[in-house]
Amino acid sequence: MYDRTKALMARGAEFLGSEWAILCGAMSWVSERNLVSAISNAGGFGVIACGAMTPELLDGEIAGTKALTSKPFGVNLITMHPQLFDLIGVCAKHGVGHVVLAGGIPPKGSVEAIKESGAKVICFAPTLALGKKLLRSGADALVIEGMEAGGHIGPVSTSVLAQEILPELAADNLVFVAGGIGRGEAMAGYLEMGACGAQLGTRFACASESIAHPDFKKAFFRASARDAVASVQVDPRLPVIPVRALKNKGTEEFTAKQIEVAKLLDAGGIDMGEAQLQIEHFWAGALRRAVIDGDVENGSIMAGQSVGMVTKEEPVTDIIAALLTECEAALAQRRAA
Ligand SMILES: Cc1cc2nc3c(=O)[nH]c(=O)nc-3n(C[C@H](O)[C@H](O)[C@H](O)COP(=O)(O)O)c2cc1C
Repeated sequence: MYDRTKALMARGAEFLGSEWAILCGAMSWVSERNLVSAISNAGGFGVIACGAMTPELLDGEIAGTKALTSKPFGVNLITMHPQLFDLIGVCAKHGVGHVVLAGGIPPKGSVEAIKESGAKVICFAPTLALGKKLLRSGADALVIEGMEAGGHIGPVSTSVLAQEILPELAADNLVFVAGGIGRGEAMAGYLEMGACGAQLGTRFACASESIAHPDFKKAFFRASARDAVASVQVDPRLPVIPVRALKNKGTEEFTAKQIEVAKLLDAGGIDMGEAQLQIEHFWAGALRRAVIDGDVENGSIMAGQSVGMVTKEEPVTDIIAALLTECEAALAQRRAA
């Protein structure tokens, strides 16, 4: 079944050790043991979102996930986490096979430390030049993620990144495509361009197995693509990595927070490092409020533009089956034409 898809995903699936080269991108608070194990059990590749977890919490989450699946899964670590190397140690202790480094260029020694444990390293490549550099520094695979995605985003769309990066790198390297993929037809297009697999977040966030609050899920089901907007930078001195989330009171409050922090900077009350930390912390707390507490007014409902294609709660197996069916049909149609 799904022979054409299987053939185009073969390299990616072999690398991940999964049946299908479909990653569920790590989503802070959402990608915990239940969703991650469900994805891996369904033949995809689940990734635990470490986010701001302490090494102890990550230790428990990996153990909990292992109790629910014997299939491979990965762990996503944020490069600016102050205990990054301890977290790498926790992954090594558990024999985690794949570590995804997110949130910026990996700090010196981190890629080496992961590889020493025998794990594979997956990095996000924001540009072709950085992608090449990451591969030279030891990254085993790349994810290119366009600005259609939910969560923290770069400035370039998936389709442009794919055109710039896949023809150059995908034949000799493993490149997964993420951002705005809601259906299998889009997956088929990127696979045909040389991608070895796809990463989706938004499409999986409201799966039956996701522990996200029912009100968080309802907000997804009601939303259309244009409701998933990128946050704006208010002060030129305070760079903000845009976050794509559903418009609500929280997104307005984020703008107000930036103004407040900028004023504190003006007054000399805080330094630049502290200012940036305060802005980053605002989102960390806000995402938890939306996902766990169901506060969809004040929390941050991170979602990609594909949110309009998320219309109901479905088991992970159904979502993956739909993606594969759509992908296979698209590939077959093109072959027949
Ligand atoms: C609610 C939410 C939380 C996310 N949290 C993280 C995170 O903690 N780390 C990360 O690397 N990516 C995070 N992402 C991005 C996803 O891993 C994934 O790459 C992205 O959702 C793919 O694009 P899509 O949303 O268009 O499918 C998050 C996305 C969402 C929707």
